[in-house]
Amino acid sequence: MRIDVFTLFPEWFDWFGSQRHVSNALAAGSSLELVNFRDHTPLSGGQVDDTPFGGGAGMLLRVDVLDSALRAHYNVDPAELRTRQRVIALTPGGRMLDDGLADELAAEPALTLLCGRYEGFDERIIEHFTTDVISIGRYILAGGELAAMVLCDAVLRKLPGALGHERSAVEESFSVALGGAPEYPHYTRPADYRGWRVPEILLSGNHQAIEDWRRERSRERGDESQTAGES
Ligand SMILES: C[S@@+](CC[C@H](N)C(=O)[O-])C[C@H]1O[C@@H](n2cnc3c(N)ncnc32)[C@H](O)[C@@H]1O
Repeated sequence: MRIDVFTLFPEWFDWFGSQRHVSNALAAGSSLELVNFRDHTPLSGGQVDDTPFGGGAGMLLRVDVLDSALRAHYNVDPAELRTRQRVIALTPGGRMLDDGLADELAAEPALTLLCGRYEGFDERIIEHFTTDVISIGRYILAGGELAAMVLCDAVLRKLPGALGHERSAVEESFSVALGGAPEYPHYTRPADYRGWRVPEILLSGNHQAIEDWRRERSRERGDESQTAGES
């Protein structure tokens, strides 16, 4: 998979790119490229933003700046680019990132991520250059960089070779394998610590019974989190 991230702060991704599962995914053939769109601005003094028409607080990223940066990187009109691949703007009000969406994105050959700053994007960027607007939660971050890293993390760890144990990415909270429910509880040694014993069934060696127990705990947790969400 090819992931290109458009950001004003590419250096934020230095640490992220060095994380094991990310470097594994890159070594296995994926790419993560950072593009500083200030490097492509047609405006003087490195300007990338401007005041909103109609007034109001803050600055907006300009459509001509994103046009120029996307065009320079892909050598194609960005309005055309989005007919060829997913171009995603990170925005607080977008479609919520969840495991199903991460699966969907992990199946794509290429993703372009646009990181906002200030008050966000001129709406024409969203309308004409993007295929998706994605949020990582109903709260406001200072910029799209952390949101892009969260999305990349959730997607890249699903790619073959990213994790040491392939099964790890299959049977996890919210996965299809668990029917969308949270994962069951895990325990490791010591089996008894301060009188807190791990459930006997996990020591039984009865694989079917363990499997059934885990599914049941997973279902219970799903019911509990649904009830908590409703209250
Ligand atoms: C300060 S925010 C802008 C918030 C915008 N004025 C609003 O009220 O929706 C600046 C940028 O951070 C990113 N961002 C902030 N919170 C986010 C979230 N929860 N999910 C995804 N991106 C987010 C977006 O790229 C956004 O354009």
